[in-house]
Amino acid sequence: MKIGIIGASGYTGVELLRLLHNHPKAEVVYLTSQSNDSKPASLIYPHLDSLYEHNFVTLDDVVKNISSLDLIFTALPHGHAMAIGKLIAGGTTRLIDIGADYRFKDYKIYEEWYKVEHTHKDHLAVYGLSELNYEQIKTAQIVANPGCYPTASILALYPLIKNGLIENSTIIVDAASGTSGAGKALKNSYLFSEVFENFSPYGVTTHRHTPEIEEFLSLAAGERITITFTPHLVPMTRGILATCYAKLKPEVDEAKIAAAFKDYDNKHFIRVKKATPPSTKNTRGSNYADIGWFIDERTGRIIVFCAIDNLVKGASGQAIQNMNIMFGLDEKMGLELGPVYP
Ligand SMILES: NC(=O)c1ccc[n+]([C@@H]2O[C@H](COP(=O)([O-])OP(=O)(O)OC[C@H]3O[C@@H](n4cnc5c(N)ncnc54)[C@H](OP(=O)(O)O)[C@@H]3O)[C@@H](O)[C@H]2O)c1
Repeated sequence: MKIGIIGASGYTGVELLRLLHNHPKAEVVYLTSQSNDSKPASLIYPHLDSLYEHNFVTLDDVVKNISSLDLIFTALPHGHAMAIGKLIAGGTTRLIDIGADYRFKDYKIYEEWYKVEHTHKDHLAVYGLSELNYEQIKTAQIVANPGCYPTASILALYPLIKNGLIENSTIIVDAASGTSGAGKALKNSYLFSEVFENFSPYGVTTHRHTPEIEEFLSLAAGERITITFTPHLVPMTRGILATCYAKLKPEVDEAKIAAAFKDYDNKHFIRVKKATPPSTKNTRGSNYADIGWFIDERTGRIIVFCAIDNLVKGASGQAIQNMNIMFGLDEKMGLELGPVYP
């Protein structure tokens, strides 16, 4: 497969490069960076030395040759992938967008939360939560790779909602992310002296991943779900831990919950354990999502945790999993890397 990566100099782009180097069917042809045009990728990212001989090119260079590619990954800030999606429409090139442009079935939600006009409203993109939309992903021309927090939160809550085990109006998600979740752009709040030895919430009641989680869970439930979602920043490079709380419906017992999570038994990248809290370190560098669940008998609530690496299952790893599904390959191809531990 001939592949172009648009936004290859960002954190998710560079993670695609690391993972695709290990993929037997992938040939990366173009890497773009507007600010590093013509420079060797390994000059900007020395860890790529001996792995990639490529120089960065610009977006225009890829656009000119777009029909020669089987697949494009866009790893761009929101608002930029729609132009690429429109360009490939009707052709044979396929697109996986790691940003948010194609994540919503209802473009009005995108416009409301992202404050930009959706310029490709009639798209037929499929939401690329690999395990839950596997069949639709197979034939999609455009796959919207899910956000990092939504991946962890939806995987934790979906079995409970699909099986009608919780009061859907009581869902609370507290999630924490490492700083690579914000990308490589310079921002004061991500300076070492701000983040180190600190732990703080942000985007309280306003984070853009809230409507993404709500839209997917609402479709699963067949009713409108709203959640309280509070993200936090933790002083680590990679990793997300989502802690989800909800009130159990009357008569729901441990056996019913265990049966609901059993649906994940044949999903290679989802590892579920009862009464065992997961940790980000056990998923670091890998495509695994580790889920642990507990019943709080005193309050009648369930607590479900999901840990992922935000750059792998939360972005580039899941994107490659989706690529494998789209091109009829084993979904694990190129992704059978164990977590980096410690
Ligand atoms: N970081 C995560 O954990 C994560 C997880 C899931 C999803 N995402 C989403 O994935 C996308 C990329 O995130 P990231 O963390 O990789 O961001 P990033 O580190 O800030 O990288 C952004 C990339 O986009 C390029 N770029 C910026 N503006 C551009 C433009 N106008 N035209 C062409 N290229 C442009 C940059 O190229 P230059 O070299 O020219 O600056 C860079 O390669 C975002 O939409 C983000 O929300 C991120």
